Amino acid sequence: MAIPQHFIQELLARADVVEIVGRYVQLKKTGANFSGLCPFHAEKSPSFTVSPSKQFYHCFGCGKNGNAIGFLMDHTGAGFVEVVHDLAQSYGLQVPEDERSPAERARAAEEAEQRATLSDVLARAGEAYRKQLKESPRAIEYLRRRGLSGEVARDFGLGYAPESWRTLAGVFPDYTDALLTESGLVITSEDDADKRYDRFRDRIMFPIRGVKGEVIGFGGRVLGDEKPKYLNSPETPVFHKGRELYGLFEARHALREHGYALVTEGYMDVVALAQLGFGNAVATLGTACTPEHVQKLFRFTDSVVFSFDGDSAGRRAARKALEAALPFATDVRSVKFLFLPTEHDPDSFIRAEGTEAFGAAVKAAVPLSRFLLDAAAEECDLSTAEGRSHLAANAQPLWRLLPTGALAQQLLGEIAGQVQIGPHELEDLWGLRRRPAGNYKKESYSGRSGAGQAAKTPKFSSPMGARRTRTPPASRASRALQIALSEPETWERLSQDEHALLCDLPAPHGPLFTWLAGQSLDHGPQPWSALREALRGHAEEPFAVEQMAQLHPDIVADPAELRAILRTELESQLKRQMDAALAEHDLARYQTLMARLAHLKRRAGDSP
Ligand code: UTP
Ligand code: MN
Repeated sequence: MAIPQHFIQELLARADVVEIVGRYVQLKKTGANFSGLCPFHAEKSPSFTVSPSKQFYHCFGCGKNGNAIGFLMDHTGAGFVEVVHDLAQSYGLQVPEDERSPAERARAAEEAEQRATLSDVLARAGEAYRKQLKESPRAIEYLRRRGLSGEVARDFGLGYAPESWRTLAGVFPDYTDALLTESGLVITSEDDADKRYDRFRDRIMFPIRGVKGEVIGFGGRVLGDEKPKYLNSPETPVFHKGRELYGLFEARHALREHGYALVTEGYMDVVALAQLGFGNAVATLGTACTPEHVQKLFRFTDSVVFSFDGDSAGRRAARKALEAALPFATDVRSVKFLFLPTEHDPDSFIRAEGTEAFGAAVKAAVPLSRFLLDAAAEECDLSTAEGRSHLAANAQPLWRLLPTGALAQQLLGEIAGQVQIGPHELEDLWGLRRRPAGNYKKESYSGRSGAGQAAKTPKFSSPMGARRTRTPPASRASRALQIALSEPETWERLSQDEHALLCDLPAPHGPLFTWLAGQSLDHGPQPWSALREALRGHAEEPFAVEQMAQLHPDIVADPAELRAILRTELESQLKRQMDAALAEHDLARYQTLMARLAHLKRRAGDSP
């Protein structure tokens, strides 16, 4: 259930981050801000500050930062929805899911009910499969041959689905119950809906559990070499492959003991590792690792080691995992990559080489920073300028996924070192610094803006200072205005996004752009002389006239320049929004914004 953005904004407007953080951290007023000992890492002198004006906290020690909602999520381990509901309650607000119609609410209740019943059905099937395993010497012999102990088989609830087409007909009173098909356990024949049969037949059954321990699906392995080797439950209301990790529930205690999660690719890997001392192993379910997987893992631990088979498929999978993990790689977290010898997966490696050797391999896993550099350098000949430049181009999209912090800063330096240019030059190359150029106002580099500040950071630098000095360096907003007012065609050629960006600017620029938008709608493109007349008597008149008076007659107002300004602004706006989305763990929004950013860049690349 999506909670509307406006409500989140309202909540953040009421919630005082100082008060909320103050519930858990002893804060002391230091100038405009408050400071205290960071609750997210051990420290003796306070490097944790909370800004009441920005409604934002930041630890200079570990880099954790965010708004009130983010703090509560990080500190209490609660999910986004839970935090929003709690906060809403404490301010006496209704979370507007109640804006839903009664019919919608009824459907939601029905879905919740259905989820519960689906889990019941699945649990019951799992029970039956477990009983069947005890009665199948062939299945037991298979597990024994794979080296599994009875104990680990019990811990993971392993079972066996017999060869019969209708084993489950003997388990459930009504084999035609729609719940059986919805749960994915029973398949109806395509040409004859009355023909039904069990999905899982003659397979070792691995129940997949949700974070609360409820059965949400199954994986089933053949006992021989038949294809497919593994059959998984289909997507159902309770089972989403892209989100679930096999073994996560079983690993919950071990995750705390070991202090990290070991992500593998297979069911057998998880079970074998658990048996041999690595109960902290989980597996993606035959799919590439997604950002949702990573996000989920980081709810349970601060440290993740991804393990991959040493072959080329493994390297590809590792690349995916890297991309999925980058947005979550804050300074307090650790992400590493373990590449096994080509012929091995974790199961075969630990059985062949032993627990100690596997432990050593985990210790020697490659940190994310190095893997990022390796991945960027792939197929680049670093002995040539071309190869090094290619590395820079490869590294940029990966680096941009990193959250703001010390890690991102250091990697920037390392990438620059590899490219053999200075870090500032790399920043310029990637458009991270605003250079004092031409008519633009000089702005100091402030890094990528932190999440949560987004709503409060003005989109353009304030024009007020510029208005008071005699020969003002026009702010970018003013420059955009001058171009739009003096080049009649320009406005017409801008996109919706660009119009919105300009019209939403703070006064006095925004309202003047809004006026221009209205003019353009009513009359089409008009030269400044006509606009000047139309402005007479309007509130916007003095400001517009003043702006145009500052337009130096020798400087050509170039529409391309406006485009460039807008692109820069749109990009940084998107990046701010992406940071905010990340801080709120709103991954779907993050990805939408990322796609928009990519689109923007592609379009920029197309038009010179
Ligand atoms: P692998 O083919 O590497 O198998 O698939 P494995 O895990 O080593 O299995 P064993 O040791 O032969 O029993 C890795 C994972 O990919 C998914 C499963 O989740 C599997 O554990 N997979 C594989 C499927 O979903 N379907 C398949 O047909 C094969
Ligand atoms: Mn295997």
